[in-house]
Amino acid sequence: MRQWTLEEKYKRIEDPEALRPLHEAQRSSPYRFSYHVQPVCGLLNDPNGFFRDARGWHLFYQWCPWGAVHGLKHWYRVFSADLVHWRNEGLCLAPDREYDNRGVYSGSALVKDGETFLYYAGNHRDEHWVRTPYTCLARLMPNGTAVKLDEPLFGANSMYTDHQRDPKVEYNAEKGLYYLFLGAQNLQHKGRIIVYASERPDGGWRYLGELGVPGYEDFGEMWECPSIEHISGVDALIFCPQRIRLPGRGDAENHCGYILGSMNYDTLTFEPSGVFTPLDFGFDFYAAACAANADEAVMIAWMGLPGARYPSDAEDWQGALTLPRRLSVRGNHLLQQPVVGLTALRGAETNDRSGELPRASELELECGGGDMALRLFCRRDGTGGVLLQYDASSGVLTADRSAMTLRVQPEQGEMRAVSLCGGLRALRVYVDASAIEVFVNEGEAVGTLRVFPTDSERFYALLGDATPRLWRLDAAVENCFIL
Ligand code: FRU
Repeated sequence: MRQWTLEEKYKRIEDPEALRPLHEAQRSSPYRFSYHVQPVCGLLNDPNGFFRDARGWHLFYQWCPWGAVHGLKHWYRVFSADLVHWRNEGLCLAPDREYDNRGVYSGSALVKDGETFLYYAGNHRDEHWVRTPYTCLARLMPNGTAVKLDEPLFGANSMYTDHQRDPKVEYNAEKGLYYLFLGAQNLQHKGRIIVYASERPDGGWRYLGELGVPGYEDFGEMWECPSIEHISGVDALIFCPQRIRLPGRGDAENHCGYILGSMNYDTLTFEPSGVFTPLDFGFDFYAAACAANADEAVMIAWMGLPGARYPSDAEDWQGALTLPRRLSVRGNHLLQQPVVGLTALRGAETNDRSGELPRASELELECGGGDMALRLFCRRDGTGGVLLQYDASSGVLTADRSAMTLRVQPEQGEMRAVSLCGGLRALRVYVDASAIEVFVNEGEAVGTLRVFPTDSERFYALLGDATPRLWRLDAAVENCFIL
């Protein structure tokens, strides 16, 4: 693994052309995606500032240009008219102020009265490397440039450690107030969400207090990327608790999940009606974000995890975003479905139960409810690969990537399982170069896995109670150098 000095990790972009060779070296990697958003070069992590306007869907991602390292973070911008085809639009926010000198960290967008506001966490460090987190604002202008305020909106809250970040802002019409939620850690090192309010989006913020989430007072050491989404009359608290082990998730300590319930803005309490549930039963899913200003809940996330290492690190790049997913609520459960427009990418179809797996493909299985085993990226003889297996007697679907030649984070566990109460009726599996996303039934569960197949790992094989349709998918993202 490459060792990075602080200077290398936090190097500024003086001349964008210096990055072109990095991009050129990576663009032909067999692990590059054809329909998932990926870094122009270097490392991508959280989706940021996702919003919709009359033109389409605007999205940014946390970006460290120099390699597979969490160094100096920027916001890189992409755009899509249809949530399917994405184009690179270039760097949007760089750490060029004293208050964000060591990184423009994650945040969100708010569209109000024709204006677009980008809220983010300014990661400031002094010469002794002591961190002060700031909550910052940039206005997104009609010509696409972002103009930062001269000063941050507010600084650190002394009742919490220096882990205070990832502002999410919403307007509450009933109260006539803007609310800003921040992920935080209290002085006892427990994860919290703290809340600020203002009558206007661009200043006057005051601290309201901590969000009460009864039953979750001791649930991880830090809560990253919090947001409260209002989906068909139900509220969903989405956040990423860190340093906590959850049943069935191996040694993984970072999770991204939700609690359904109702948000009481008078008492600043989120009353759970369900329990914390991981949004994804796979391995590589974090920092989920929903689009602002959209009439339906559309979520996208980072196909990666804090601190994770992947085989592409050796090529000096890492990370990609998931497909956007449409959210809805059924009973006490969040359903996630791939956005409808993705079917437009379908090309040639086959119904064979085994064969060569196109690098970009969609596999739809109609399942009879009996046992089923699907191997993806296996060898020609049907051995190896990622195994998706359904056991009808227990009603459990498992995803196992331990038989791949290149292993990903084996120490965090190589198998994940999800229990399906009504059995298995359908699977929709998206395959793209180095990732698999498995949608179960009508979106009852989704599993995301990064996989790094070698040359001989390029086949699939289906056994058991399922009928397949397999489509080759067209490319839909750019793999080009725009800064
Ligand atoms: C989550 C996170 C955020 C932070 C950002 C920095 O992955 O740690 O809390 O703002 O990434 O890149």
